[in-house]
Amino acid sequence: MLPGLLTDKTVLVTGAASGIGRKVAELCALGGARVILCDLNEENLAQAVAGLPDGGPGHQTHVCDVTDSKAVRAMFEGHASDGARIDAVANCAGIWRPDADRDIANLEDAIWDQIMSVNLSGTFKVCREAVRHMERHGGGSIVTVASVVALAGWDKVNAYSASKGGVLALSRSLAVECGKHNIRVNCVCPGVTATPMTEEVLKYSQPTVLPLGRIGQAEDSANIIALLCSDYASFMTGATVAVDGGFSAA
Ligand SMILES: NC(=O)c1ccc[n+]([C@@H]2O[C@H](COP(=O)([O-])OP(=O)(O)OC[C@H]3O[C@@H](n4cnc5c(N)ncnc54)[C@H](O)[C@@H]3O)[C@@H](O)[C@H]2O)c1
Repeated sequence: MLPGLLTDKTVLVTGAASGIGRKVAELCALGGARVILCDLNEENLAQAVAGLPDGGPGHQTHVCDVTDSKAVRAMFEGHASDGARIDAVANCAGIWRPDADRDIANLEDAIWDQIMSVNLSGTFKVCREAVRHMERHGGGSIVTVASVVALAGWDKVNAYSASKGGVLALSRSLAVECGKHNIRVNCVCPGVTATPMTEEVLKYSQPTVLPLGRIGQAEDSANIIALLCSDYASFMTGATVAVDGGFSAA
């Protein structure tokens, strides 16, 4: 942990009840930030906030569906109503479903729509509120989470790849648009990572190309996301950061 990584900062983390987002919340809290943990899953959210280091500033939870524009707006307005500033937003909420990984001829609209709705539209809705908020407060840092499948093709992973490719493109375009407002936007692309999302599939299938010889752990991506939230990354915007053990380079 870098000294004073996020002292006096407030970081809002979506998808904070599980996996990578939960680890981001933990690392940001360890780095001195006040953390607003957002997720759909109320029970896991309560566990996540209870697991944060004691004695820190007042962390808060917010049950919110990132696909619901009104709920996302209310979340930002609620946490900023007293003029409080949200310095960084980490977009970790996302879904993958095994039944989506099929040839395109058999990919149903409903599956495509659900994946696009959470991964791409959800990220858009959170980024839109983050930009509105940060413009009023002199800037901030937004981190999006795509995937290595935004960087390279993966057999039959059509809907998820398209959603993550969209997240990457949105992040770059926002970085260009928002630099003048001192808002940085960077995109992290995790490789296959052991989290509840991948628990089942990893029992019967592992990626074959692994230059570092292992799959990722949640903290591998979370460390980089927390760093990008902080001022240590003050000259980084529009970057695509693969955290994949070398997968995309191989
Ligand atoms: N695990 C991997 O191998 C991997 C690889 C590349 C990218 N990613 C991406 O990393 C991010 C985190 O994934 P993870 O592996 O930690 O998954 P996870 O399933 O452990 O955690 C995702 C969290 O997002 C929440 N969520 C889902 N839909 C939501 C919604 N509509 N509104 C609010 N919260 C919602 C879930 O409740 C869950 O707590 C996702 O965007 C995922 O696509 C994961």
